[in-house]
Amino acid sequence: MISSPVPDTRFRLSESAAIELATAYGTPLYVVDEKHFRDRIRTYLTAFRNAYARSEISFATKANSTMALVKIAYQEGCTIDVASEGEFRVALAAGVPGAKCHLHGNNKHRDEIKFALDNGIGHIVADCFEELEILDELLVGDLRKSTKIVLRLAPGVDPATHAKISTGQADTKFGFNIADGSAEKATIRSLQLGLHLYGFHCHVGSQLLDPEAQRSGGELIARFAIDMKEKHAYSAEYLNVGGGLGVSYTSKDQPMAMSDYCRLIVEAVMSSLEGSGIEPVLGQEPGRSLIGESGVTVYRVGVLKTVPSKAVGSRTYVAVDGGLSDNPRPALYGSKYTVERVAPAVVGEVESKTVTVSGKHCETDKLFEDIELPADLKVGDLIQVLCTGAYNSAMASNYNRYQRPAMALIREDGTHTIIQRRDSWEEMLARDILPTDLS
Ligand SMILES: Cc1ncc(COP(=O)(O)O)c(C=O)c1O
Repeated sequence: MISSPVPDTRFRLSESAAIELATAYGTPLYVVDEKHFRDRIRTYLTAFRNAYARSEISFATKANSTMALVKIAYQEGCTIDVASEGEFRVALAAGVPGAKCHLHGNNKHRDEIKFALDNGIGHIVADCFEELEILDELLVGDLRKSTKIVLRLAPGVDPATHAKISTGQADTKFGFNIADGSAEKATIRSLQLGLHLYGFHCHVGSQLLDPEAQRSGGELIARFAIDMKEKHAYSAEYLNVGGGLGVSYTSKDQPMAMSDYCRLIVEAVMSSLEGSGIEPVLGQEPGRSLIGESGVTVYRVGVLKTVPSKAVGSRTYVAVDGGLSDNPRPALYGSKYTVERVAPAVVGEVESKTVTVSGKHCETDKLFEDIELPADLKVGDLIQVLCTGAYNSAMASNYNRYQRPAMALIREDGTHTIIQRRDSWEEMLARDILPTDLS
């Protein structure tokens, strides 16, 4: 049974905390609350274990690969999903054993695979035939049997989410297509090569608020596993249904409770497997739903400007000291966020005004369009954007040569510390080389 919508579970800063952090570390500033993050992981782990004992949760570091957060996820009992050598290096540097990580990626370079193998990766999720051949070349001696390989499947499911974060449909660059026979061919090839085929993986999409796609993804991967057992006497030890559970960017986003979601996944996979004799370890690799709601971004208002607008008569722009380079999601996906003035705090009933928050970049850079902020908002006020723990710092850039923001962690005892520094100007220039004749 699906329960009623979940309450607002997002972390937010108080006025005093926002002022203290902004004064200590400057703005824009990413802030993550450690207790909130640990609680999210514990809730997810408990929900999944209660639904199915042989379960495993991997933290998808693509959502936020800050070293301290990767370590916290590992400490809480997650394994670590890395999608590149860079993310793997972060996990290793955080002290996570290679064996507790698995490597994704749709076009892994031979050197990347070699690095993973040399550092004892737990398993590799193969995405294409080319990777199977690289593995054949690299897995010599005992490594061939001890290294686990998982095949990423494209189950042919179209989720109800933004096209840029749907990954499980048939027309996708990711994985081996089930419907066109590629997934079966990859299974046969892996068995022929004598690889340790550990199981199958699928990830249908991200920010899923309607779990239907995830349910059918789970069913399809399970049916495929049965098919491979019947046709090729191969019994999968492991099935992973990816990540995808959504978060509340705004109050319109009502994700399922983790407990309902985990029950639904387990039900979809295990009822399909019933009677097949396949009893896999069941994996999920959430990113956004673990770290998204634990983070906020604090900006300082620098400019207020009201201009004539054909569309709405007049528009007030609130320019903040960050933008596209620290949060590209509004530009990439048209993402909406909850934005609040945090200092000075809103006391009692305060009139609000529709404004557009823009960034500092040489783009239209409308970060948050037509949102409500207090009518007495002024230059120097602090605003916080909720739910920026996932795919914000991880996707940040130096566009316009702005320094990427620092990230502060509020510890469980209420103290705070920096877990990622703001870029220094030296770092900003360090990669550029001026040929001698130009210097
Ligand atoms: C293969 C894979 N696993 C896990 C994730 C994490 O998804 P989410 O952050 O939506 O939970 C993604 C996101 O793109 C992915 O591609």
